Amino acid sequence: MINIPRGTQDILPSETKRWRFIENRLDELMEVYNYQEIRTPIFESTDLFARGVGDSTDVVQKEMYTFKDKGDRSITLRPEGTAAVVRSYIEHKMQGIPNQPVKLYYNGPMFRYERKQKGRYRQFTQFGVEAIGAENPGIDAEVLAMAMHIYQSFGLKHLKLVINSIGDADSRHEYNEALVRHFEPVIGEFCSDCQARLHTNPMRILDCKIDKDKEAIKTAPRITDFLNDESKQYYAEVKQHLDDLGVPYVEDPNLVRGLDYYTHTAFELMIDNPNYDGAITTLCGGGRYNGLLELLDGPNQTGIGFALSIERLLLALDEEKIELDVDHDFDLFIVTMGEDADRYAVKLLNDLRRHGVKADKDYLQRKVKGQMKQADRLNAKYTIVIGDQELENNQINIKNMQSGESEAIELDQLVNYFKK
Ligand code: HAM
Repeated sequence: MINIPRGTQDILPSETKRWRFIENRLDELMEVYNYQEIRTPIFESTDLFARGVGDSTDVVQKEMYTFKDKGDRSITLRPEGTAAVVRSYIEHKMQGIPNQPVKLYYNGPMFRYERKQKGRYRQFTQFGVEAIGAENPGIDAEVLAMAMHIYQSFGLKHLKLVINSIGDADSRHEYNEALVRHFEPVIGEFCSDCQARLHTNPMRILDCKIDKDKEAIKTAPRITDFLNDESKQYYAEVKQHLDDLGVPYVEDPNLVRGLDYYTHTAFELMIDNPNYDGAITTLCGGGRYNGLLELLDGPNQTGIGFALSIERLLLALDEEKIELDVDHDFDLFIVTMGEDADRYAVKLLNDLRRHGVKADKDYLQRKVKGQMKQADRLNAKYTIVIGDQELENNQINIKNMQSGESEAIELDQLVNYFKK
């Protein structure tokens, strides 16, 4: 037997309705917030992520599914959506669209070669938004509030919005130098990844999972002390907007995010339930990326966005024991007795379905009792029983399975009955 690849999952019919419910809700919310859907390829040139996400990030260094195609091009299964959406924005010159900023959303599979655990997969489904073309604290607040609204719209309560500012390029430059000075004398005690990152990406040391309890991490300089006036002002305005909107948040100066393109606003939304027993608590993450478009040879435009995975949203729903109002309705099950009735039912079903009635019948020659059980399993609202007598008299009883009541109608009027 060949098994499913590690870190992936089959989403079986018993689950797909929940997925569709979530995805439909997200589509509806995106209309409310005036974001439009974009679909980009599942694979891109490896360079896009190496440059966009950053060569020294874990995603690029360790987690990408990269291969050569038959034309000897280096291809990567997308590990995230932002770089791809920005590529598309640049390629289609979306800065020229009259409606600005360009507000986009996407939903699809992403791939990261990570260690599997609860809430972490090698193929996962990311829903994300990107608002490109406005550098305005108001839109940062909109995006953060929207992330919160998405989770709340499903009834989730145990949520924590964690925010930080990682400043503009100048502030980050100063800060990185301070971090190098701070960590250099003790870097020998850190893991090999941190040692390698000291000069390429010292901020990443702050969220190393191996060294997270080291004293030097706790005493490290904080980005908030290195923000220049402009960055401080921007951050203050984002927070002011969040206060105006009544969106609660906590600040964490060590929140640096795992991808290189961030500037200014960085945030994560987390499960905030002391009884939660999983290691992974981050439901969604995002932030502002002011240099990314130019880094990818695009126009001087900036963006902000976030992404969440449907897998972790489902995990949070399970955690809070929230049942989604999934539609399990089924209209009609036709129980047949005898060959003539069975043949008639095949045609009748065809007519019913062409009128949009959700209907089915037995194909395994089950006894009436077995067919009734099948109707129950399908949660059918109505059943009818057709036998020789019903055919002859053109009369059937249509039974409402919820109330238990039956109504006599003419068999050839069944389609009209449902049309009404
Ligand atoms: P990220 O923090 O790498 O950011 O991922 C965003 C979200 O994707 C995570 O919070 C989590 O819900 C989900 N996720 C990531 N990896 C996995 C995994 N292995 N299994 C299940 N879920 C996962 C980004 O990807 C940025 N592109 C977000 C963004 C958009 N920033 C600006 N715009």
